[in-house]
Amino acid sequence: MTATPPPKPLVSRRVGALSGTVRVPGDKSISHRSLMFGALALGETVIHGLLEGEDVLNTAAALRALGAEAERGADGVWRARGLGIGGLREPASVLDMGNSGTAARLLMGLVATHPFTTFFTGDASLTKRPMARVTGPLETMGASFVSRSKGRLPLAVVGTDSPVPITYRLPVASAQVKSAILLAGLNTPGKTTVIEAEPTRDHTERMLRHFGVAVETAETDDGALAVTVTGEAEITGRTITVPADPSSAAFPTVAALLRPGSDLLMPGVGTNPRRTGLYETLREMGADLSFGNAREEAGEPIADLRVRGSELRGVEVPPERAPSMIDEYPVLAAAAACASGPTVMRGIGELRVKESDRLAMVADGLAACGVRVEAGEDYLVVHGTGRPPRGGATIATALDHRIAMSFLVLGMATDEPVRVDDGTFIDTSFPGFVRLMNGLGADIAAD
Ligand code: S3P
Repeated sequence: MTATPPPKPLVSRRVGALSGTVRVPGDKSISHRSLMFGALALGETVIHGLLEGEDVLNTAAALRALGAEAERGADGVWRARGLGIGGLREPASVLDMGNSGTAARLLMGLVATHPFTTFFTGDASLTKRPMARVTGPLETMGASFVSRSKGRLPLAVVGTDSPVPITYRLPVASAQVKSAILLAGLNTPGKTTVIEAEPTRDHTERMLRHFGVAVETAETDDGALAVTVTGEAEITGRTITVPADPSSAAFPTVAALLRPGSDLLMPGVGTNPRRTGLYETLREMGADLSFGNAREEAGEPIADLRVRGSELRGVEVPPERAPSMIDEYPVLAAAAACASGPTVMRGIGELRVKESDRLAMVADGLAACGVRVEAGEDYLVVHGTGRPPRGGATIATALDHRIAMSFLVLGMATDEPVRVDDGTFIDTSFPGFVRLMNGLGADIAAD
């Protein structure tokens, strides 16, 4: 298991307006997938703007251990050379996925239909997270698994040499589970179908199409979406430009909204509608934000995001919007803490199985900052008073990058500074976060 590095406490103090133009790092979901597809494609895949966060670097290292090439050039461009679908090779040692659920779950799908055994482990956060949601359907395709109790890592995948295509209805709205099955389906004869009642991010489907694989989608009788891949296709290398991550842009966005007079521009942010629930919600709260110059890169929509300081009011977030903003609730809660009136977030039980129990971490952290919150198994209500709360607390981050960044953003507005007990894990998704934020006018420092 990955050793936990020594903690790096950080403190964020109240600042004035933020301004500037910044490029936020590449999309984490798309970065993982571009390396994985590069490892399956014959010939070279060229990836511009790959997120060089720890999570994605773990995926690159795992793919190299599985026999593919994935390297950063001196020009900052990544190049992958794949082995063809079904061509991965047994790794000689354990694959350590660090903090990354996406890396672990998608790669488990990928190797499940290869005839060899792969061992996975991760850090103190990842080894607590549920994996049965992936191993269950992959077992019905023919793979078998040996894991710790409740299906947790460390875990061994015994891949099958005679995979069986399945039709699987997702019991939880999860793009990771959907993608694991679709990736397993690529090396399976016939049609593999995943049915989702609530649409989740579709980067796997879009990238499959970008690589020339037919993906069929159809509505089921009960209004769900069925996504089908036909296995054993041949794919060849492509060029990919990774959009800036809307989940990372969320942090400077909320910071700018909370500081009067702010004006930020973030070019090339992903605007895939399955990812933009936060922006829709912030607009409903009164945020002055807009997406201009809409265009497309490698099958994904992007645009330039402009945000100005705004007065926010509490809203009720529709539960069906949750999959399109699942990673953004912690930072939305920071915005809600400064808005006028309650913000009600329901249908967010999945937050309890992210890098930490985010529902509990957010509720406890906000309460420590003087915010009135109500939390239940799958809901959170944040009572804003129309002005920033007191702050003045040290927040436990539990190895969770988004908890750390959300509270540092809140500290930019609170009366007293907000401290986080560890900023190390910010590098999993947003390397350079402190520098970028300070460049815009934040005051975040080592504590
Ligand atoms: C991701 C899907 C989401 C999200 C995660 C990235 C992906 O997880 O929280 O950060 O890249 O597919 P779930 O599929 O578990 O909801």
